Amino acid sequence: MKKLLPLMRKYIVFAILSPIFMILEVLGDVIIPYLMSKIVDIGIANQDIDYIITIGIIMIIAAILAMVFGVSSSFFGANAGYGFAAEIRQKTFEKIQGYSFANLDSFTISSLITRLTNDCNTIGQVTMMSLRMAIRAPFMLVFALIMSFRINSSLAKIFLVALPVLAIAIFFTLSKARPLFLKLQTHVDKVNGVIQENLTNIRIVKSFNRQDFEEAKFKKRNDNLMYTAFKAISYIIILMPVFNLVVYSTIIAVLWFGGKQITIGTMTGGALISFITYITQVLMSLMMISMYFMNLLRGSASVSRILEVVNTESEINEISMPIDEVRDGSISFENVSFTYPGSSERTLKNINFSIKSGETLGIIGSTGSSKSTLVQLIPRLYDVTEGSVKVGGVDVREYDMEILRHKVSFVLQKNTLFSGTIRSNMKWGKEDATDEEIIDALKNAQAWEFVSSYDDGLDHIVEQNGDNYSGGQKQRLAIARALLKSPKAIILDDSTSAVDMTTDAKIQKAFKENLPDVTTIIIAQRISSIEHADRIIVMHEGSIESMGSHEELLEKSPIYKEIYVSQQKGVIGQ
Ligand SMILES: Nc1ncnc2c1ncn2[C@@H]1O[C@H](COP(=O)(O)OP(=O)(O)O)[C@@H](O)[C@H]1O
Ligand SMILES: [Mg+2]
Repeated sequence: MKKLLPLMRKYIVFAILSPIFMILEVLGDVIIPYLMSKIVDIGIANQDIDYIITIGIIMIIAAILAMVFGVSSSFFGANAGYGFAAEIRQKTFEKIQGYSFANLDSFTISSLITRLTNDCNTIGQVTMMSLRMAIRAPFMLVFALIMSFRINSSLAKIFLVALPVLAIAIFFTLSKARPLFLKLQTHVDKVNGVIQENLTNIRIVKSFNRQDFEEAKFKKRNDNLMYTAFKAISYIIILMPVFNLVVYSTIIAVLWFGGKQITIGTMTGGALISFITYITQVLMSLMMISMYFMNLLRGSASVSRILEVVNTESEINEISMPIDEVRDGSISFENVSFTYPGSSERTLKNINFSIKSGETLGIIGSTGSSKSTLVQLIPRLYDVTEGSVKVGGVDVREYDMEILRHKVSFVLQKNTLFSGTIRSNMKWGKEDATDEEIIDALKNAQAWEFVSSYDDGLDHIVEQNGDNYSGGQKQRLAIARALLKSPKAIILDDSTSAVDMTTDAKIQKAFKENLPDVTTIIIAQRISSIEHADRIIVMHEGSIESMGSHEELLEKSPIYKEIYVSQQKGVIGQ
């Protein structure tokens, strides 16, 4: 909580005003029954119309003031609560932006979404309640108790029976409902998990006709959420009649003993009427306190879920005096091994190689041979477990991360576009890119050809995930975006897999001719995508099987030869 409370700073005035106004409202609520008893005992008893009118007016004023105070308190409370929630949401979101890939592996996306929405909302609501209910209930309890003891202390002894009964009932319910309320959030997570996975892949779901399966999966989790919520609420529902029973029994007891006192003249009718009101107020506040505790439980569960996110430190740390210039695009791996966090086996084993600035390196190997893992270490998407990766002769961990990632451009295997226009997507690469620069990059990526065919050209719309483009078009746009960073090295992780062979060859040619100084690493499935590379690495089960030029590898690498032969057969077979 210490970590979150400072976020309240902006709303501190509201957070202070809300309880103050709440206390004023309680004072009004407590005074009204007292005035009522005066009207009955003095005004009505003496048939004093003037007295009744005067006290009546005071009562109305008190009621109006209590209402105004109540509304103000709610207003300030809502401001403080939801403002606080918004600050927490912002801070959590910012924290997630700084996460490394390894951090992201440890949370599911849907659980992060639930935390940013549901949990932040819960914290906002509970904060609002803390400022209002948590203040109102105890004050009301104490004031109403004092008033009832003042009116008739012998009659007030009824509380000695009523309060413990109610307290036991509340304690029992809370202890039963508590674990269920804590479980609720995880069930929400699970429902969100299915929704997220389904909606992002809805087209695949449809093409495989898996709607029924998905619906069943959703129903199961949705039902689980409902049952848990229902069970938790049931306890509260049971508590209500118990509460009413206690209240009405108490009122009957008060009427019984109070009536007796009236007949012997130790109590007045007005006192009895106000006494009953106070008794109800006392019991109501106790009920309110229990409801508040229930919500506090939910709130504390949400707070710890938010803290989990906020307290996760990025695994990728920057050193204090980072180097802010990348000299050239040379890359070397020295005894590099890598294990994914939480995994027990090494995914990369003792990798050694180096390439000069401006060279083109091809990487080939079966899926799962750790090609992607290898290149992810270059822009520090993950940090090595052993050894070191150097760019421009300097260990990547010594660079300012922003500069490193700017100079080492990466087209991810699972790349995506963002909703907007082609221009806005290109500006991800360079914020102030001119149209000429953008067109230049599009040309090198062989994307200009289709972009220029649109009437609105660069302003052509991009839907969420770039769904209105074909796989090959998306890949080419992603390459252009990466080129705009004017990098010293560019990594294409299987980035032309959906592009036809002719276009692919044009991209290779454009890179060679127009970007001779940029180091290029190409991961590919097709030999044709890499055969002209200066050097080629053949990956096998996390190690380099062999390295050399196309011709050399045909001689010495059985794996390379096998891939080559199988792809030749395909070509000849056509
Ligand atoms: N984020 C991750 N967490 C844990 N293991 C991973 C992760 N990404 C990939 N792996 C594992 O690392 C191995 C290599 O994967 P990858 O580098 O993607 O292979 P390739 O790109 O050659 O197909 C695989 O066995 C895969 O299961
Ligand atoms: Mg891969």
